Amino acid sequence: MTNPSLLILAGDGIGPEVMTEVRKVIAWLGDKRDLTFDVTEDLVGGAAYDVHGTPLADETLEKAQAADAVLLGAVGGPKYDTLDFSVKPERGLLKLRKEMDLFANLRPAQCFDALADFSSLKRDVVAGLDVMIVRELTSGIYFGEPRGITTEGNERVGINTQRYTESEIDRVARSAFELARRRNNKVCSMEKANVMESGILWREVVQEVHDKDYPDVELSHMYADAGAMQLVRAPKQFDVIVTDNLFGDLLSDAAAMLTGSLGMLPSASLGAPMENGGPKALYEPVHGSAPDIAGEGKANPCACILSLAMALRYSFDQGEEATRIETAVEKVLADGTRTADLMQSGDGTPASTSEMGDAVIAALEASL
Ligand code: IPM
Ligand code: MG
Repeated sequence: MTNPSLLILAGDGIGPEVMTEVRKVIAWLGDKRDLTFDVTEDLVGGAAYDVHGTPLADETLEKAQAADAVLLGAVGGPKYDTLDFSVKPERGLLKLRKEMDLFANLRPAQCFDALADFSSLKRDVVAGLDVMIVRELTSGIYFGEPRGITTEGNERVGINTQRYTESEIDRVARSAFELARRRNNKVCSMEKANVMESGILWREVVQEVHDKDYPDVELSHMYADAGAMQLVRAPKQFDVIVTDNLFGDLLSDAAAMLTGSLGMLPSASLGAPMENGGPKALYEPVHGSAPDIAGEGKANPCACILSLAMALRYSFDQGEEATRIETAVEKVLADGTRTADLMQSGDGTPASTSEMGDAVIAALEASL
């Protein structure tokens, strides 16, 4: 049997540092769990631009499409701020999502008990929080045509178009319902059906998919602005939230902050299931490239390690090993090992990126 393949795109900023710790976990899985991946590596974002003049080379896209899963670090940095829009690091990521047709973006907002006091909300509002945002990722206003900056009369006009087809809404709704069945069986769909036709269609299609194929799942609808309010008022009312590309971008950042620790959150971007197994997929931390601390060994590798865990669960049918990694990370936090982002001033010396990675490996060892 051939080993499953994994393409690593470490990217920019703290991406390479956190990925070094992920490689330790991959090596450990090979040594101790008999779970070996064929790992290849390539460039994305600014790192790819520096070498190829583009944030995603064609060969890299081909490798991504051929791999069983892609694990990405982070893209972007101030060095690239003045680049033309078409070659900015972020375009590389957007092209990967679009070309691989990764339409369902899973963003868990989970509050680790040991970190509940870091939330800007009160502990009892967030302790035990476990929400999954399913964001549509390959359509909507991010990609709709027409778009651009044109001139009308003597002034410029910026144009983007919100556009959703029935089938685009249908497939992401199914992803949300399927997930809900494996969790607490509740989906809340968010749009602006009060002002947008695309929102009216979104609500109708989600309801139809529900009534036809998922009547056992509890479904509710909310306007996205009210949803934002409810997310900070009483986030534990939600299980799975399904929403469009732009609302999902905003709501998932807000939800991430509720947990008090952006440096802890992984994400998965899933396409349609492949003939011989899980979906085509890309996994990445929710945090960005954090150029202000890049190269200093201060970054928290947990989000990227937990992204690998999501890959094990969703792409490789290794839920048990995924849980093992998640439990190891929780144990490390509970034992008090903290990177700088998980500490308040006066809390003592923070663990470095590699110390945090080593602590996770030690916890994995202890789990055997
Ligand atoms: C995200 C980011 C991206 C987005 C950027 C980097 C293109 O904000 O993944 O949420 O807007 O989708
Ligand atoms: Mg975002």
